[in-house]
Amino acid sequence: MAGYVNTLVEGIRTAAWLIQRPSHWAHARELVLRMFDYSRNPSAEAKRARAWASDRAVSLTDALKAVGLGDAAATIPRIPEEIVKQAMQRMAQVPVKMGGPGDINLLYAATKLLGARRVIETGVAYGWSSLAVLAALDGQDGGHLTSVDMPYPAMNNEPWIGVVVPDSLRKNWNIICEPDRSGLEKAIAGFGGIIDLCHYDSDKSYRGRRYAYPRLWAALAPGGVFISDDIQDNMAFAEFVEMRHLPYAVTEFEGKFVGLTRREQASEFARSKPL
Ligand SMILES: C[S@@+](CC[C@H](N)C(=O)[O-])C[C@H]1O[C@@H](n2cnc3c(N)ncnc32)[C@H](O)[C@@H]1O
Repeated sequence: MAGYVNTLVEGIRTAAWLIQRPSHWAHARELVLRMFDYSRNPSAEAKRARAWASDRAVSLTDALKAVGLGDAAATIPRIPEEIVKQAMQRMAQVPVKMGGPGDINLLYAATKLLGARRVIETGVAYGWSSLAVLAALDGQDGGHLTSVDMPYPAMNNEPWIGVVVPDSLRKNWNIICEPDRSGLEKAIAGFGGIIDLCHYDSDKSYRGRRYAYPRLWAALAPGGVFISDDIQDNMAFAEFVEMRHLPYAVTEFEGKFVGLTRREQASEFARSKPL
């Protein structure tokens, strides 16, 4: 009974929080639709997705190589330890619990090896992924990261979003504090519709990914790289790469899986064009 009351109170607080924010109404509508979507069996699907990812997981170096980033001889660049140490200290001072760092070396290396300049990520929380991208972009003329993040409703964590990123790395960064359903289009438009790299780490549901993946993919320049966290949650990433016959790689970090894929290079486009 107490559990039911807590869920109800939480639902009402979330609804009140969303209603006050017109840019969140499309997301609110989607949450209502999800309550009546019985077309999937999330726990069975999560089992299938974890098996799919686990069967394909390779090392970070091999995953990067599989999408053409780095070669056997190349050393994988790693985010400087001092940056991580200072970020850990900033996180320790935050009174709200969010998520710890994911595979920040993957993001750091992918950004560096690609020479990415125009980057979008979804999902900031403490800002570990933002930190990795911004550290890699540091010193790259014209490099910029736009992050889309809707803070957890009614959790009062807004002041701490992105807290691990030091002031020295913030000049090439803006955060759109909205749900993917309004923020993503704005982020893409901010880059004139073309980006080099994206990292998806916000709405982990199947429907959320079905909305965001194709939009991010369509914005990627030839050779652009697509990275998604937590692909073991459902079959969205597996279906996305398999149905489009994309080259992809999967790597594991602390029991979770990250998927990478990449758009064809411009030369491959040229080769595949009919004469
Ligand atoms: C797993 S955390 C992101 C972690 C971050 N990438 C990092 O490395 O520290 C997910 C974040 O996405 C946000 N989020 C969840 N659903 C969202 C949505 N539909 N649109 C935008 N942001 C969302 C959450 O509030 C949270 O801040």
